[in-house]
Amino acid sequence: MFTRELTLAGLLMAACTMAQAQTETSASDAAAARTVAALPEPVGNLEEPMPPSPVVEDAESDAAPGLDASFGIGRPATKEEIAAIDIDVMPDGSGLPEGSGTYAEGETVYVEQCASCHGDNLEGIKETGAPALIGGRDTLATDKPLKTVESYWPHASTLFDYIHRAMPLHAPGSLSADEVYAVSAYILGRGGILPEDAELNAQSFKEIEMPNADGFVEDPRPGAM
Ligand code: HEC
Repeated sequence: MFTRELTLAGLLMAACTMAQAQTETSASDAAAARTVAALPEPVGNLEEPMPPSPVVEDAESDAAPGLDASFGIGRPATKEEIAAIDIDVMPDGSGLPEGSGTYAEGETVYVEQCASCHGDNLEGIKETGAPALIGGRDTLATDKPLKTVESYWPHASTLFDYIHRAMPLHAPGSLSADEVYAVSAYILGRGGILPEDAELNAQSFKEIEMPNADGFVEDPRPGAM
């Protein structure tokens, strides 16, 4: 039934095209003979409902998610691919990679790769959208709170995680672990949280105490982290 409709529609369209082609030819004698482009395959009635989606196994099943309901695309991620994005650093410091960096090394990284947006004095350059990284201590409870790494962030681990994952804005993921340790030491040094001769590594990073560490409350919801 459906096929017949389609065939009929196809015939009709073909007839119309021929008629049109004839009119065009007679309409202008001067026009060179034109070839009529081949008609595209009919796509069917567009108002027809979509075919039902294939059943996807629920997450509890043994099958790898999505593999049963195969669309013929995709493959499981390899260990290397997972490792490349498995870079989160937790508040207790777990996940911090090997490596180290000093304030002095961090200054070089900062000047070359961060200052254009965050400013020479880490004050943030408004036009770039980059926020201030230091300053604002004791402003959080005022009418003009300035939230920065120095004034607001409760855990230093977030600094490593964030920079490693997301900065510099135009080339996220491009910094080595050593560079992230170094630039973290520089930012925390400029914020008066670490001395300028500090060297950061996985161990010393865990010992950093952030000024606003006690400025947050526990999440009271049952089961919350
Ligand atoms: C091209 C501009 C640009 C460059 C270069 C850049 N940043 Fe940023 N940075 C931003 C912007 C924009 C944000 C805000 C992103 C957001 O809020 O989603 C940001 C946010 C941050 C934050 C979080 C601040 C906060 O309080 O939320 C840190 C930390 C940071 N950048 C560090 C760095 C470091 C370190 C470098 C150099 C290695 C760097 N950035 C280079 C634009 C830049």
